[in-house]
Amino acid sequence: MPVLDPKLQRPQKIAVLPGDGIGKDVTAEALKVLSVAAERWSLPLELVSLPYDADHFLETGVSLPPGQMEAFRDEYAAILIGAYGDPRIPDMRHAADILLGIRFQLDLYLNFRPCKLYDARLCPLKDKRESDVDFVVFRENTEGAYVGMGGNFKKGTPHEVAVQEEIHTFMGVERICRAAFEWARAHGRRKVLMTDKSNVMRYGHDLWQRVFFDLAREYPDLEASHMFVDALCMQLIKKPEQFEVIVANNLFGDIVTDLGAALQGGLGVAGSANRHPGRVSMYEPVHGSAPKHAGTGRANPMGAILSSALMLEDLGHDEAAQEVERAVVAAIRAGETTVDLGGNLKTHEVGDRIARELAAATVAG
Ligand SMILES: NC(=O)c1ccc[n+]([C@@H]2O[C@H](COP(=O)([O-])OP(=O)(O)OC[C@H]3O[C@@H](n4cnc5c(N)ncnc54)[C@H](O)[C@@H]3O)[C@@H](O)[C@H]2O)c1
Repeated sequence: MPVLDPKLQRPQKIAVLPGDGIGKDVTAEALKVLSVAAERWSLPLELVSLPYDADHFLETGVSLPPGQMEAFRDEYAAILIGAYGDPRIPDMRHAADILLGIRFQLDLYLNFRPCKLYDARLCPLKDKRESDVDFVVFRENTEGAYVGMGGNFKKGTPHEVAVQEEIHTFMGVERICRAAFEWARAHGRRKVLMTDKSNVMRYGHDLWQRVFFDLAREYPDLEASHMFVDALCMQLIKKPEQFEVIVANNLFGDIVTDLGAALQGGLGVAGSANRHPGRVSMYEPVHGSAPKHAGTGRANPMGAILSSALMLEDLGHDEAAQEVERAVVAAIRAGETTVDLGGNLKTHEVGDRIARELAAATVAG
């Protein structure tokens, strides 16, 4: 089956999977904002909500029905996800099937995470301005430590042995590093930094070293550099303003992006895209399902809303995407936020506030 360019599909069908816990709360607000954007900019979006969550799994034993992954690939322009995770399913089976299933089976190798401080008062570091925290992380999303290769021997005994493999391929490392260089060049950023632990991980991470610096020769206009991940974590706290684009393997990217979320004000305000350029991609807030906050109105919907802005951008709706982000920033700067950002609004009130701001935006063309 040929892969369609989502931008050419009309209408653009969006699969919406709110998932579990606060995933449902924040996705409702993202849909509210998307509906306003669709009306304001006459976007050809068709939002299709799908019921695959923990309840569905517990009732049917099915995470996603047969053929669903192919349907995502062939019939949809994008996938929008809330969050997955439910204490009734301790092994996270359905969450792994759905989230990792989509990432791996649709080959969404590029996890894109902007870390942007929208208001200086949200930064936990002292004396930082908005411009001091403004970098993006390119996390490799299909290989590394998360491939689930390994096993246990003599499990549950004092002699237990556990083996957990990391996989790094030339193709996998090359495409994520190239994506980082290309994005930097296209967006006027000059510095691309690769992080690894090649001083001790002498095989897999040495591959990252060789691929990254070989590739850097194709981008003489950019400054390619390297830090071991432990040093990077320290520098992100001491001097975040030195970073523009960071590229990392799956495990280190996961960790560094949570650190990045903390620098921008917390998990509630962090959005992400899981991309395979030219194919159907998936968009989700960085946070999990925070079950204790579900239905309480405490969940910040901004990460989900900013993720839907990334989706709009990829679908070719740049102006709407920028206006959604601007509306989120306006709410933050006005202090009209949920409690995690110091405000006193409920989840749906923040969604209403952002939707109102967007509805009042000027449409340029
Ligand atoms: N991509 C995903 O769907 C994803 C990611 C991480 C964790 N999880 C799952 O989510 C469940 C809960 O995990 P966890 O508690 O470690 O992480 P979590 O991100 O769900 O929550 C951690 C804490 O961060 C805060 N927080 C997170 N999102 C917030 C928001 N939108 N607004 C306000 N505060 C927010 C809350 O204080 C919360 O207790 C687990 O089942 C976990 O496996 C899913």
